[in-house]
Amino acid sequence: MLVLFLSQYLLTPIEGITALATDITERKQLQNKLEEYNKHLEELVKERTKQLKDSERLATIGATAGMVVHDIRNPLQAITGDLYLAKTELSSISESEEKRNVLESLEEIEKNIDYINKIVADLQDYARPLKPHVEEADLKQIIDDLIAKNSLPKNVKVTVKVEPDARKVVADSTFINRIMSNHVNNAVQAIPKGGKLHIHISKDPETREAIISVKDTGVGIPENVKDKLFTPMFTTKSKGQGFGLVVIKRMTKALGGTVAFESQVDKGTTFTVRLPPPTN
Ligand SMILES: Nc1ncnc2c1ncn2[C@@H]1O[C@H](COP(=O)(O)OP(=O)(O)OP(=O)(O)O)[C@@H](O)[C@H]1O
Ligand SMILES: [Mg+2]
Repeated sequence: MLVLFLSQYLLTPIEGITALATDITERKQLQNKLEEYNKHLEELVKERTKQLKDSERLATIGATAGMVVHDIRNPLQAITGDLYLAKTELSSISESEEKRNVLESLEEIEKNIDYINKIVADLQDYARPLKPHVEEADLKQIIDDLIAKNSLPKNVKVTVKVEPDARKVVADSTFINRIMSNHVNNAVQAIPKGGKLHIHISKDPETREAIISVKDTGVGIPENVKDKLFTPMFTTKSKGQGFGLVVIKRMTKALGGTVAFESQVDKGTTFTVRLPPPTN
């Protein structure tokens, strides 16, 4: 009886060897898993260190940019003022070839000043803490003013559609202006050979969010570039700074919204900004 009882718990030699082998296999598997986990941890530490270095570098760039931009603003405003005076003076002089040449030069200077202003504004909006001044903003007005002010290339056909129930939002209009201006710039730059740019403002019937979409028939965005788009200083342009989309994202986020895009190479790109409905 006792032998029968014990035999249930004692292993035969074959069973013993099998159990030992299983034990060794399990231990090996565990060791492999541990090694794998260790490797994963090492990679994680490496990645985090890189992220930390990157963010330190960006913080330094942000702080330096903030100071430089602050110092550039005053002389830039002085140049803009003098340019305005020169153009006014010129208008009282009678027509001549010399006058036309001077006017052409002044217009070229004006364009370059606009470009410097964009860089300065982007750097400033990247470096400064964003505090939106929330008020009722008229999206149609902002877009109409933007298109009127920026002389867009003639080979870009611009259309704007604003659904009547989506025209007004509660948000900072200067932020919306900057967001739209950067999107329009990017869209125009993506259509060097001409094409269409369509801006559509609507309201999501479910969430009541305002939806601003900027669609172009431009070059599109290649797959391998898509996840780098919102990284500071990422640009595919010879004259780009890589701050436009970063500023768009920062400002949209400060307004409680989101920005997303869809794109196909050689077909075009649509950026969509969603802004939350007013909280009553
Ligand atoms: N509508 C678009 N169509 C195609 N590519 C785009 C579009 N918008 C953005 N991109 C891509 O995203 C990159 C980053 O855009 P972003 O506006 O941040 O910087 P940028 O236009 O290169 O320079 P800048 O600082 O002068 O705006 C661009 O270089 C371009 O490759
Ligand atoms: Mg840009």
